[in-house]
Amino acid sequence: MTYNLLKGKKGIIFGALNEQSIAWKVAERAVEEGAEIVLTNTAMSIRLGSIDELAAKCNAPIIEADATSVEDLERLVDKTMEHFGGQFDFVLHSIGMSPNVRKGRPYQDLNYDFLSKTLDISAVSFHKLLQVLYAKNAVKEWGSVVALTYMAAQRTFVGYGDMADAKALLESIARSFGAIYGRDHKVRINTVSQSPTETTAGKGVKGMGGMLEFADSMSPLGNALAEDCANYVVTLFSDLTRKVTMQNLYHDGGFSSMGLSESVYHAFLNGSNSDE
Ligand SMILES: NC(=O)c1ccc[n+]([C@@H]2O[C@H](COP(=O)([O-])OP(=O)(O)OC[C@H]3O[C@@H](n4cnc5c(N)ncnc54)[C@H](O)[C@@H]3O)[C@@H](O)[C@H]2O)c1
Repeated sequence: MTYNLLKGKKGIIFGALNEQSIAWKVAERAVEEGAEIVLTNTAMSIRLGSIDELAAKCNAPIIEADATSVEDLERLVDKTMEHFGGQFDFVLHSIGMSPNVRKGRPYQDLNYDFLSKTLDISAVSFHKLLQVLYAKNAVKEWGSVVALTYMAAQRTFVGYGDMADAKALLESIARSFGAIYGRDHKVRINTVSQSPTETTAGKGVKGMGGMLEFADSMSPLGNALAEDCANYVVTLFSDLTRKVTMQNLYHDGGFSSMGLSESVYHAFLNGSNSDE
């Protein structure tokens, strides 16, 4: 079902690598809801992924940018403003990568060069993006910027390693910049804390299969899928959420408010051979 929620709105979507990407689903839904979009990713991801297919489907240009490079971000924002003929309405930051997690370095044995990269790619890139958008006054009043995050910023999850620290920083940047951008230009900034989702980045986390199953068994509504996330993000880009800013919004089927569900309780008892 479509509601024309984004009719006449324009925006940039970072992070669509392939059909599994959450950003891919957001791009599709945004266009279905009437938006015009620009797609962006790194040169390598554009080459190795299938973003061309998405661009054709969404009638969107692809502008290459490494989100850790301020120069690239400036070029991206300039070109996007040229393409749209001025300011735009929304931006999705859907970027995450940890070399420590990828190479299986446990949290008690981090490589610090890798940690710097994790933080730069997964969190500081959000500050760089916001700083460029703000300096160029690129986002319209009542515009909306959303970044995707995970609950490991608040609670510890096995296998998530230094990405937990990156997500904590990302969420903090959304609050700190949200205060300034809201005050000066009425632009809102939020993070959406999504359920574990089967994507390329998701699969990089060791034990992802078990994590997905555990989260699903804990959540009264079950895990939120990438498609569900896209629906939620579209509402945050729309005019229906104009006064929502500086929030970390859980989109996880209820997981974040659960302590113990019946199914996890019974699975634990069965696994441990204890009597009830
Ligand atoms: N998959 C999950 O379980 C899950 C859960 C919660 C939050 N998230 C978050 O959702 C976001 C999107 O991830 P996804 O799961 O769709 O995986 P994905 O692998 O499809 O997307 C990650 C994207 O980050 C991009 N990227 C990496 N380095 C970059 C750089 N330097 N500059 C620009 N882009 C860069 C990649 O090219 C890729 O498109 C991430 O922030 C991730 O942490 C994912």
